Amino acid sequence: MDQHRLSPFGSPTSAPYQRMAALFDAINTSTRDIPPPRLRAAVEQLSLGLSRSRSSMVLKDYLASPLSQAAYCVHFLPWNVYRLCLAWQSSPMQNLGPERALHDWGAGPMTGLIALWVQTGLEGSNTLASYTAVERQRDILDMGESLAGMLGIDKLVTIHSHPHALSFDEEPSQEKADILLVSQSFNEWLPPRGRSTEPIRAFAKHARAHVKTDGELFLMEPASRVVSWGVMELRNMLAESATILAPCTHAASCPLLDPRLKSWCHFRRRIVPHPLHGKLRGALPPEREAVSYSYLHARFTPPEHTKEQRFALARVISEPFSIEDGRGVYGCSAQGRILMATRSRRWSQPLIDALAPDSVASYPRQGKHPRDKKSRALKIWLSDCRKPDGSRYGAPAPAKKDNPS
Ligand SMILES: C[S@@+](CC[C@H](N)C(=O)[O-])C[C@H]1O[C@@H](n2cnc3c(N)ncnc32)[C@H](O)[C@@H]1O
Repeated sequence: MDQHRLSPFGSPTSAPYQRMAALFDAINTSTRDIPPPRLRAAVEQLSLGLSRSRSSMVLKDYLASPLSQAAYCVHFLPWNVYRLCLAWQSSPMQNLGPERALHDWGAGPMTGLIALWVQTGLEGSNTLASYTAVERQRDILDMGESLAGMLGIDKLVTIHSHPHALSFDEEPSQEKADILLVSQSFNEWLPPRGRSTEPIRAFAKHARAHVKTDGELFLMEPASRVVSWGVMELRNMLAESATILAPCTHAASCPLLDPRLKSWCHFRRRIVPHPLHGKLRGALPPEREAVSYSYLHARFTPPEHTKEQRFALARVISEPFSIEDGRGVYGCSAQGRILMATRSRRWSQPLIDALAPDSVASYPRQGKHPRDKKSRALKIWLSDCRKPDGSRYGAPAPAKKDNPS
């Protein structure tokens, strides 16, 4: 397997890769007083509790003890950095700059700031004036500040810790952000049961009021069906008055909210974890070969009504799979789910990479596209599609002699 191709941080000589190594060192230093078996047991307990709760309802106050805070930094912090860095490769933050203020709701150990530093170094055009972490657990903020200090991030950005339990009944603060980041916390405001959209509407209103005109919202969430439903509903609410930058390639209503569909809006990305991940004290072995997430990136400017082009954009939402007469991937577009397919079942690695989940493809909007019999998605031959730069997808790998498919 090509390790570099699947690393969320590039090759071992890249600056993000080195910064990630420094993060693992800092986490090890900050948890050095806890014996590894104790830390491992706490990681297992927190991991089990949080993954169970994500599917139905959220565990409350799971970061109340110093042990669970350390366990969070050992287990969830690195995986959330992976997720954020991957999604920012698809849709980079737009409002970074020397005078910009980023606010992070439900910041935990300042995961958002650390991830941004890992990916960009917070240098050059990627600087920030300030980072404000709003978080109901003061102690986890202290851990974040200590990590940021060890990594030298506090020399690059003014960090404000704001221990506070956000409630959307309160008046939004006067101080507005250029960027609002919400990572793995939006789900904590979703209804514990049922599908009431009221809390989502309250979140949307509060977020809108908190961000400057032209400001952006970046939301990173688990990929479970329930949480992704919340993200898709939020996206539809925001699309009335904001520009959705990603993952949607269109401003039409979210086609994946159709209750008849089995699929929902989330991405599963194959990765190779950083080698130092396996050396984290107390961590579970990083055996995963993929991370999953749902996300939303929006800018608070009125939706842009672009002229209909001959080619429309689609976001790839699946890995390639076999179909009756070949191989294909699903994309999501203004015309709903589309199936971009080849007659060959063998795809070359460059083709698989070019159509990896969360990438963008363009396809001819016009024309009589048939519907795939099984999924009812519009079926479009990949030979008619284009990469976002207008070039064609390479030919699929030639079939082996002993495998004529
Ligand atoms: C799963 S953690 C995510 C932490 C961090 N953003 C990350 O990506 O790793 C969710 C965080 O939201 C915080 N939180 C939950 N409800 C909150 C509220 N009403 N106000 C402020 N913080 C809240 C929790 O204490 C917790 O630290």
